[in-house]
Amino acid sequence: MRKNQMEKIIVLGGKGGVGKSSISAATAVRLSDLLPEKKILLISFDIAHNLTDLFNIEIGNKITPLSENLWAIEPDPNINAKKYTNNLITKLKALMKEMPIVGLIPQLETFVDTTFTADSIPLALKNAMFFQEILNAENEESMQFDIVIADFPPTGNMVALFEIPEDQVKVILKYSLNFYNSIKEAVREFSKLFRKLIKPFDDYEKRKELGKQIFHMLEELERRGERITELIHTIGSLRLVTIAEKPSFEEIKRARDLTSKYITLEGVHINLITPESKKCQYCNNIRSNQLTYVEEIRKEFNRLKIWESNRLEKEPFGLDGLKSLAYEVYGEDIKPDDILNPIS
Ligand SMILES: Nc1ncnc2c1ncn2[C@@H]1O[C@H](COP(=O)(O)OP(=O)(O)OP(=O)(O)O)[C@@H](O)[C@H]1O
Ligand SMILES: [Mg+2]
Repeated sequence: MRKNQMEKIIVLGGKGGVGKSSISAATAVRLSDLLPEKKILLISFDIAHNLTDLFNIEIGNKITPLSENLWAIEPDPNINAKKYTNNLITKLKALMKEMPIVGLIPQLETFVDTTFTADSIPLALKNAMFFQEILNAENEESMQFDIVIADFPPTGNMVALFEIPEDQVKVILKYSLNFYNSIKEAVREFSKLFRKLIKPFDDYEKRKELGKQIFHMLEELERRGERITELIHTIGSLRLVTIAEKPSFEEIKRARDLTSKYITLEGVHINLITPESKKCQYCNNIRSNQLTYVEEIRKEFNRLKIWESNRLEKEPFGLDGLKSLAYEVYGEDIKPDDILNPIS
């Protein structure tokens, strides 16, 4: 059993290129400094992972230590989906073997292997399966984290990640049904041929047991989905990242509306604001235009925490770069709770 309950899941979303990954990483680094006794995990849910570049350490599909209490992972969603489909396939195959006629067709195994693959599962569902594995790691101590920070993909795919846990049983069932139908089609011809030659056998008890196991797998998936949804409702906190320009501002309004039933929106990051300059009048013009958007964004999201951050002279890379970005975003003497629970 878990020794300690997960405390917070911080999710960062927003339009492409606005600094979601950088701010996610900076937030994780800063929290890990402020809370040395907490275990923090940074997860990238973007297909184009870039944590490896950000930290300049090979990360990939394994929980990789970045400091004493900070880990990161760029999950390969296919691996979990494969685990799941392999298990399901094994049971389906066994079930079919026990069926009259069907089990006697030699080509069937290959057919099953090539029809029902992890590739046929939508990416968002694969990601959700992985997310669940992390959030549900009840038995493995190395997988238990106090705080999870998730760098999400731009809005459309982000919403899919929230939706899937509620819907996934339906999705899996749909795939299983398609799968069953393909099998039925394929065996129809064979059965015509064999019907007269072979007397079908039928081990009813065995079939019932296998059917039950498959049903339990789907049921377990549904229970997990419910738990994830509940967890995200209770300890999830969404922060939307934007730049001070119209398209990105429009995007976060849309994201707010689309995600409101899944997760509490607590803050908005206005990133990449052009700093004031003594020499560059052009920069100052851009800045003053941006500041009118900053005001609009503040008005629109007036009940939320708004963090403003200027464009740094150097792109924030590596632990030190990300620490500088964290100082830019959160200031020098912030308390961990101001980051974790900014509006409570
Ligand atoms: N405050 C900042 N100052 C300077 N550079 C920044 C700042 N924030 C982000 N950047 C740079 O802007 C670029 C985009 O940032 P990042 O990759 O974090 O955005 P993203 O929203 O995750 O993008 P994508 O949608 O492509 O995943 C990167 O090169 C990053 O180093
Ligand atoms: Mg990114």
